[in-house]
Amino acid sequence: MEKKTSVSLCVFFVSSVATTMLEIKTDLENVDWERLAQVYAAAFNGIQTPDLIETVFRRSYATCIAFWNGCIVGGVYAFSDGVLDATIHGLCVHPDFQKLGIGRALMASLLEQFGPEIAVLLTAEAAHQPIYRKFGFRPLKTAMAKGFPAEDMEA
Ligand SMILES: CC(C)(COP(=O)(O)OP(=O)(O)OC[C@H]1O[C@@H](n2cnc3c(N)ncnc32)[C@H](O)[C@@H]1OP(=O)(O)O)[C@@H](O)C(=O)NCCC(=O)NCCS
Repeated sequence: MEKKTSVSLCVFFVSSVATTMLEIKTDLENVDWERLAQVYAAAFNGIQTPDLIETVFRRSYATCIAFWNGCIVGGVYAFSDGVLDATIHGLCVHPDFQKLGIGRALMASLLEQFGPEIAVLLTAEAAHQPIYRKFGFRPLKTAMAKGFPAEDMEA
């Protein structure tokens, strides 16, 4: 698939001691899968193996990985046919780097890879829904799902 041109978004925080750079990469060249798996494990408080994370990212239609001073600190990926529909999954930022605008930058970069005509789905706990509202997402009356934890499903 020829979709993965690398775009980057740089934000400079200039202080008297350091310049910090946030870069969002949309290609999968030279990814440290072990580090990305650690970031997912820390953010979701669980275990993610490097092999699983690599498989998920490589099979995705669009991916974004956040680097903070060259170190992986977050990611997000989407499955799509590239024409009609897409689903976004796995938005995460390492706990030590949250509330710095990285999640917003990841979402903005991912959504840039889809045209405005594509219908985009995602799932989010109530606590995270305000974040997605900021990107124009709204609860969907017509969604059904399978394979989710029982506590997330209606009867
Ligand atoms: C959700 C998550 C990705 C947000 O990443 P982040 O880098 O901290 O988010 P940002 O700093 O870019 O904040 C984005 C916006 O959401 C808001 N926000 C961030 N965390 C929030 C929270 N817990 N509740 C409500 N709003 C929140 C911010 O105020 C910001 O709004 P603004 O740009 O208008 O100021 C991060 O908290 C995370 O990885 N959580 C654990 C994994 C997870 O649950 N992922 C979501 C799956 S649905």
